[in-house]
Parts: sequence; C-alpha cells; structure tokens
Amino acid sequence: MSVEIDILNGDASWSIAKPLHQSVWGPAMVEKQPWGHVKWANADLRVLIETPEDGLVCHVGIYFRTISWNGRKVHVGGIGGVCTREDRRCRGYATMAIDAAVHTMRANEAVRFAILFCEPHNFAFYEARKWQPFTGEVYCEQPEGRIRFDYMAPYVFDIVRAPTLGTIDLCGLPW
Ligand SMILES: CC(C)(COP(=O)(O)OP(=O)(O)OC[C@H]1O[C@@H](n2cnc3c(N)ncnc32)[C@H](O)[C@@H]1OP(=O)(O)O)[C@@H](O)C(=O)NCCC(=O)NCCS
Repeated sequence: MSVEIDILNGDASWSIAKPLHQSVWGPAMVEKQPWGHVKWANADLRVLIETPEDGLVCHVGIYFRTISWNGRKVHVGGIGGVCTREDRRCRGYATMAIDAAVHTMRANEAVRFAILFCEPHNFAFYEARKWQPFTGEVYCEQPEGRIRFDYMAPYVFDIVRAPTLGTIDLCGLPW
C-alpha cells in the first residue's frame, strides 16, 4: 500500500490536521484531563501521513525552541500531538511519522536533542523507540506566568546528546 509523508508548515496545515486531532483530543475529552486547561504551543511543522484509500491517518507536530538546561541556552526539537486514526493503528504509521520528525530535526544542525511529553500509558511506546525519561524538573510559560510543568512526563531523544537530569525551562508554552 502506498503511503505519502508530507512535512508542512504548522499553521498552514492545521486545517488538514484538525479533524484527526479533534477525533483523538476532542473538547469533551480534553476538559476532563488534569492538563485540560493547559495552553499549548502551535507546531512549527507537521508530519502528515496519508494513504490514497484513507486520506490522513497520522499526525506529528514538530517544534523548534531555544530552551534553557541548567541555565544554559540550548536549541532543541520537540514533538507533540502524535496521533493515528483509531481504526488504523498498529500499522507502523506513528513510528514512521516520529522517524520523519527526528530526521527533520537532525537536518537542523543547531538541534542538540528532542523532547516530548506523554502520559504513563505511552511510556512503553516511546521507550521502545529509544526515548529516555528526563528525570529532572521542567518549567514553562502559561498565560498566568512561569509554572512547573508536571502534567505529563518529559522524554528526551539524542540528536547529538540529551541530558536526563537537571532543570529544563522551555522558555515558552509547552507542546
Ligand atoms: C500512540 C499512537 C500514536 C500509536 O500509533 P500507531 O500508528 O498505532 O503506532 P505504530 O503502528 O507505529 O506502533 C504501534 C506499536 O506500538 C505499540 N503501542 C502502541 N501504543 C502503545 C502504548 N501505549 N504502549 C506500548 N506500546 C504501544 C503497539 O502494540 C505496536 O507494537 P508492534 O509494532 O510491536 O505491533 C496511537 O495509539 C494513538 O494515536 N494514540 C492516541 C493518542 C496518543 O496517546 N498519542 C500519544 C501522545 S504523546
């Protein structure tokens, strides 16, 4: 079966990604979550996987940000909004889309490592794909100011080398 992988501007492609995103994280589901009130960053780029039969089946948002780690500035990549259409899961689409996102980050020479945030039911999924838990503290911006971000667990991935300890400040909204 043929699969098309596109990497598009995040804002311009939001209208394509939105129906899939909403089917996984609709407003009724989101408002019940402990993180339901969190204001999230918009993706800079999006990986979109489409098939001729099904259209869009998988989405991964890509973020680029200069954060701080232990007070030192470092440029990182992020992924977020990883989702596959419910009736098309376990076909390797998310693995393919995450690989495409990591490949895109590697093409940016300034990126030292990648970060994502996930819930416990996805820990095994990312650990099987060589993401490591970041066991330090994470801070970010919200409309009310700087907060400690502990609604989801941070995972990191080596682009050059990822730290697993210390203090990260996302220097902006989380993803
Ligand atoms: C997590 C998710 C993106 C995986 O998408 P997918 O396209 O089915 O993923 P893939 O087909 O590439 O990989 C599936 C493999 O991961 C495994 N897997 C899927 N979810 C898993 C989980 N939560 N924990 C452990 N393994 C998991 C499957 O068993 C399968 O293993 P196999 O390849 O050995 O058969 C999808 O289940 C989803 O959209 N979930 C809802 C949204 C979500 O939680 N997103 C993550 C936000 S951080």
